[in-house]
Formats: sequence, C-alpha cells, structure tokens
Amino acid sequence: MVDVLVIGSGGAGLSAALAAKEAGASVLVIGKMYPTNSQTSMAQGGMNAALGNVNEDHVSLHIQDTVKSAHGLCDEDMVRQMCADAPQTVEWLERIGVPFSRLDNDKKGIGTVAQRQMGGASAKRACYAQDYTGLKILHTLYDTCLKEGIAFLDEHYLLNLIVPDDTIKGATFLDIRSGEIKQIDAKSVVIATGGYGSIYHGFTTNMYGATGDGVAAVLRAGGAVSDMEFIQFHPTALKHSCILISESARGEGGYLVNEAGERFVDELKPRDEVARAIFSQMKEGQRVFLDVRHLGEEKLMELLPQEMALCKMHEHVDPASDLIPIKPVAHYSMGGIDVDYALEVNGIKGCFAAGECSNAKVHGANRLGGNSLLEITTFGRFAGENAFKHAVYASSKPVDGTQRLKDEAEIKTLFAQEDSESFYTYREILGELFYEKVGIVRENGQLNEALEEVIAMQVAQKKMGISDKSRTNNQNLVEFLEFRNTLLLAPAIISAAIARDESRGAHFKVGFETENEAFRKHIVLQWKRETQ
Ligand code: FUM
Repeated sequence: MVDVLVIGSGGAGLSAALAAKEAGASVLVIGKMYPTNSQTSMAQGGMNAALGNVNEDHVSLHIQDTVKSAHGLCDEDMVRQMCADAPQTVEWLERIGVPFSRLDNDKKGIGTVAQRQMGGASAKRACYAQDYTGLKILHTLYDTCLKEGIAFLDEHYLLNLIVPDDTIKGATFLDIRSGEIKQIDAKSVVIATGGYGSIYHGFTTNMYGATGDGVAAVLRAGGAVSDMEFIQFHPTALKHSCILISESARGEGGYLVNEAGERFVDELKPRDEVARAIFSQMKEGQRVFLDVRHLGEEKLMELLPQEMALCKMHEHVDPASDLIPIKPVAHYSMGGIDVDYALEVNGIKGCFAAGECSNAKVHGANRLGGNSLLEITTFGRFAGENAFKHAVYASSKPVDGTQRLKDEAEIKTLFAQEDSESFYTYREILGELFYEKVGIVRENGQLNEALEEVIAMQVAQKKMGISDKSRTNNQNLVEFLEFRNTLLLAPAIISAAIARDESRGAHFKVGFETENEAFRKHIVLQWKRETQ
C-alpha cells in the first residue's frame, strides 16, 4: 500500500508528488499518458508572482487583481495564500532548474527573472520562459521527480475511486498497454487530472484528453463538484486549428483588429471581456485578427518563438508580416472538484485535489492569465503535504477487490455492447453543441435545448460501443471511456448555467446581463454514494 497516490502527471500532480516525497511519504504517480506531454506543456505565457522585478508590484496588488477578476466568487483567504506563496514558489522552481527568462540588469550577467504583462493585471507580473513556460516547468518538475526516485505508472486510465464508506482507500485503473484492470491501494490520494475543456471538442485549446476524468470519478464516488458552469474562453486561438496563441502576444504589445483594421477593445482587459468583444465582432460578420507585425521579427523571435512557429505551421501565416486570424474558444475550467481549505475533497476524506480539476475558489467566475501555473505549483505542493499528513494517521488495512471486479465486469460488458452508432460522431456533435449553446453568450432557451440533446445522447450511448475489440493498447476503448465522462459532466455544466440567472465573469446570459447579488454563491452538485 502506497502512502500517497497521485493521479495525474501534469504540473499539479508532479508538484504534489515532490512535496509528499519531501515530507517522507512513499509516492506513486499514475497517469493516462506520459508526464512530458500533459496539458501543462501547453501553458505558454507565464506564471504570476509579485516580484516587482520590472515595475512596482506587491502581493496585495496581485490579490486585488485576482479578486476583482473573480467577480465575487473566490475565497479571499485561498487567494491570499496562493498569491503570498507565489514569490517563494518561483524561487523554488528556479532552484530546481526552471530556466525563466531573465533581465539584463546585473553586472554579473545573471539578471533577475523577467516579468511580462497579462490581461487584468495591474503590473508586469508573469514570470516566463519565452513562451514555453508550462513546458519548461513541467519538464523540470519531471526531472526532479526522477532524481528523487518517485515511482511512475504511465498509460494507466483512472476508472474509479475506492471509497467504501466516506474515506478513500485507493483507485482502480485500466492498464492501457496490457488491458488489465488494476487496483492500487493508498492511504491518501491526490487527484490532479486536469479540466474538462474538451467537452468543447473541436472548439478548445485543450488536448483531446482534457475530459474531466477525475471530476467525473469524484462525482461517481459521492464527492462534491462546484461552479461547473464557469468555463473560460481564451480570446486568441488560431482560427482553424484552435491552437492557443498566448495572451503574452498582447502583453508584449499585440493588437486585436477587425477586417477594417480597427482596434475594438483594450487588449489587456480580463479574458471574459476580451472574448465577448471578439464574439460580438464575429456576430456582426467581422473576421478578427491578432496583429503583432509592429513588434518586429527580432523581438517576436526572442519573446514568442513558439507562437511564431505555431502560426506558420498551423495557420500558414508569418506573424512578422501577416495578420493572424483568431477566434475565442474554450480554454479553462474554473469549476471542478469542490475542496476545502486543506484541498481535501468535500465528501471524500483523505482525497485531495489540485490544479485545473479542483475548485479551490481562487479563480471564481474568471481566472486571470498566469494564475493557473501558479495554482498548480503552489496548491499542488500544498495538496501533497496535506495528503502526507493524512497518510500518517490513515489505516493501512487494504480493502477487498470489489471495485476492481465491478470494473472488470463493466469493461467486459462494453466489449460486448452494440456498436451501431459511432461515439466519435457524437463527440463532434457535443463539442459543437456546447460551443453554440453553452458558449460565450448563453440564453436559457438554448441551454434547455442543449440539455435535452445531451439527455438524448445519454440514452443513445447504449448503442455506442467500441469497434476495436483488442485487449491491449486499445485507444478506442480509452476514448470511449473519456467520452462517457464528458457525457456525465455535460448536464452538470448546463444545469448550473440554467440555474444561474445572471451574468458574472465568464458566464454571460442574455436577458440577465448584470450580476445579481442573490447569485453570489457557488452551485454545488453531489450524488448519493453507491455502496461499494
Ligand atoms: O495565454 C496564455 O499564455 C495562457 C495563459 C494562461 O492560461 O494562464
């Protein structure tokens, strides 16, 4: 039995693993893919910390900006903790080797960490490594985990959490390579499985696998989820591929222009406002572009080399000389697993959640750019420490194999299930449905239609099976299980959006265009736990 089982091997999971290990725990990190290509690798622009290296700044201003952007739905104590920890988290990341870009302000040529502007921030506060910030942080965390001897099981897909009464005992997994169903017993668990943005399949910056697996597993196991209706739309994804073009392009001075070449919004407002401004241009029939030509090729190559390559490769434009066609798409789930001050999941003792899958109430109705890399590292570590503390006193009596046997039987049934309707087609339909009817601007009639369509899809699910019957390396099976999770979460998102008759941050509803004090609260969903 392992002390701390970390599910998910992105930035939050690896930070949790390192903290738990440092505290003295035996740790196993388990993930459905490889750590080096988790969603964290796609975070580009930077990580906020009020270092004041470039301009006047202070932790209190970071707190103020975060609270303002959250539109009354954050927990100020949690925000304070995250922002106050930020400078020492950057210091820690530097110590383990993250190559942050630096200023040329030191006689020894070392320089202090460079910082750039992000939307909604009152100062240049985001520390960055060119525009590869998430990738560099992720790979450094992984190297450090390997140096510390942390054990990994890659390509293991989370099936269910084991919660026989109200306390976690481990989880079950599909070993993708062998097809075997495995049970891992643990004294405590950290869930760090990422968000559910891929429900907007085809209209998101997220990888296909951002299917809310951990959030769905918590719901099934009787834990709480909250604020599911708050999904952030990133203003600048490439128009045809939805690949993220970092907010740092605007932070470094890029403009948003319409077909007439007119700027129509302050590019450095928070993302919800900028995304809505672009959306209304598009509704008027305008195409919208990001314009960074005036920054010059040298500066672009120095500060935004990844954006340059992505634009050339996926949109066939050269940002140094061409306008970049963009559109806003789903980017980040503010809602997720409901956790308390210790990041323990409400409803499941000994189970902690960190990163995008969790709702630690630091982002509220609209997350600030640069606060997600901060959250995954600060709160990832905090979750790891707390998981270790729980493990110290937890029972080491293993549970029987009931859940594993149930899961084996269920997978067997799936192999035999009718396969007359392709779930891949429904995955596309669901993505489009969400973008159109549960998108940037919402309306109750459309939300109700979306709910009906999702319920019809849940019924049709009985006819969707897997066509590939191989037991080993069955990607078709994994994608089906992922799709099932999105279908389980879809009604939770839509119902909460229907219930919230107001506009707040990323949730904007026609007919209810202002904030309503009566809705300054979290919508929480929890199912009765099945006996395991
Ligand atoms: O635009 C970006 O670089 C994204 C940053 C973030 O989501 O925090």
